[in-house]
Amino acid sequence: MTTSPATDISDASKLRHQLVEHLLADNHIRSAAVERAFRTVPRHVFAPGTTVKAAYANDIVATRHSDDGTITSSISAPWLQADMLEAARIQPGHRVLEIGSGGYNAALLAELVGPTGHVTTLDIDPAVTERAVRFLPKAGYRHVSVVTADAEHLPSAVVPDGGFDAILVTVDTWDLPWINALSEGGRLLAPLRLHGYHWAIGFTRNEEALHSDEPLIVCGFVAMQGDGAWNQNRRTVPGTGVHLSWEDGTPMSVDQLASALDSKPTVTRTHITVGGQEPFDLLTLYLAGALPGFCRLGADPDGENQVLNPPPRHWPAAAIVRGASLARLAHERIGDGVDGKGRYEFVVHGYGDQGAVAAQEMAEQVELWQRNHRGARCPLITARPADGRAPAGPDHEPHVFAKKHTCITLDWPIVPGSTASPAVLGSGDAG
Ligand SMILES: C[S@@+](CC[C@H](N)C(=O)[O-])C[C@H]1O[C@@H](n2cnc3c(N)ncnc32)[C@H](O)[C@@H]1O
Repeated sequence: MTTSPATDISDASKLRHQLVEHLLADNHIRSAAVERAFRTVPRHVFAPGTTVKAAYANDIVATRHSDDGTITSSISAPWLQADMLEAARIQPGHRVLEIGSGGYNAALLAELVGPTGHVTTLDIDPAVTERAVRFLPKAGYRHVSVVTADAEHLPSAVVPDGGFDAILVTVDTWDLPWINALSEGGRLLAPLRLHGYHWAIGFTRNEEALHSDEPLIVCGFVAMQGDGAWNQNRRTVPGTGVHLSWEDGTPMSVDQLASALDSKPTVTRTHITVGGQEPFDLLTLYLAGALPGFCRLGADPDGENQVLNPPPRHWPAAAIVRGASLARLAHERIGDGVDGKGRYEFVVHGYGDQGAVAAQEMAEQVELWQRNHRGARCPLITARPADGRAPAGPDHEPHVFAKKHTCITLDWPIVPGSTASPAVLGSGDAG
């Protein structure tokens, strides 16, 4: 930084208010309380290693990396912090737990709960909690409790009588082991991993279950470490450069798919189209729940395999395995679309002897989604204690995801005849 400390402070204040104007204009800040918190907390104090300008950009500030360069801790993007704080509905006097620390978001929470409330912020990484302990008082927040622990094993001593009024999880999580730490009626905000996507979901506790009531926000946080870390169930089909990954349960064997992927696929048309810029994440989530044996299919960008044409580029494709056969969702360009960004038809490619049957099965589900659910803003999501249910397998219940601590059920509202596109409020790596 080349500016003097005095210039930095006035720059910081100006940039902070500019950022707030931006967050208001884009509707990420929707309440006076969250606006006040963002106008008050000096974000740059929590990011001393970066420029004041970068500290007030609407982007993450990476603060810790692993040996291979992966970001393991960051100050999350302001737009996502604002969305999550709004969805948490925090009130003065609330007792709040933040999982995944650093200090800045804890300070925003401290502003929202006020002097009669309390904030506990917890992180597995002692270097992160050490930063929080250092920066919070520097920024004027002396009453936040900072705890070093693995969130998978929340120390009972940190949970207040009756539970927290709100828990904000600011790290990717595959499961929700915190139901009992939440008060009745309390809010839990968590970027829950469901089939390769992270959906920041707002839940309210009602008796033993959590019920979602907010539209999903697609987001990317840093990965959970410790005992709750997600184990990537990935298998490579030998000699093809094609990878299949399963989100939940035991991955299937894939060696038998090598010859299927060596043959020309069948193509099943759906006559259902999507714009070039239109997200269809919710279709993928729908298929993940509807189809047993669902997995995501990716391919090495410079792989030898010529059968996957077009290869899945930005995201792994939705796929199902049926014995030695496979089907995967693809799309074919059918025109320019009204915005010139292209119009695409969903098609399903089938590989192997039973590939056409598998493709037909997937295409029927795409049609059901189109007919009944495409206009839905999002499914209603319920998380209940797992009660020892078996992980999702070939005979899984539709739209039920069995995790270690919870069983997650997705209820897709019926929106007949609608052709509106699914609502996705934001996207990209943000935490
Ligand atoms: C995106 S950062 C948190 C950002 C912070 N809330 C903010 O913006 O001020 C995610 C944090 O989660 C922490 N983390 C990862 N696994 C964890 C675990 N099992 N228990 C607690 N913290 C964990 C990481 O060390 C990292 O600091």
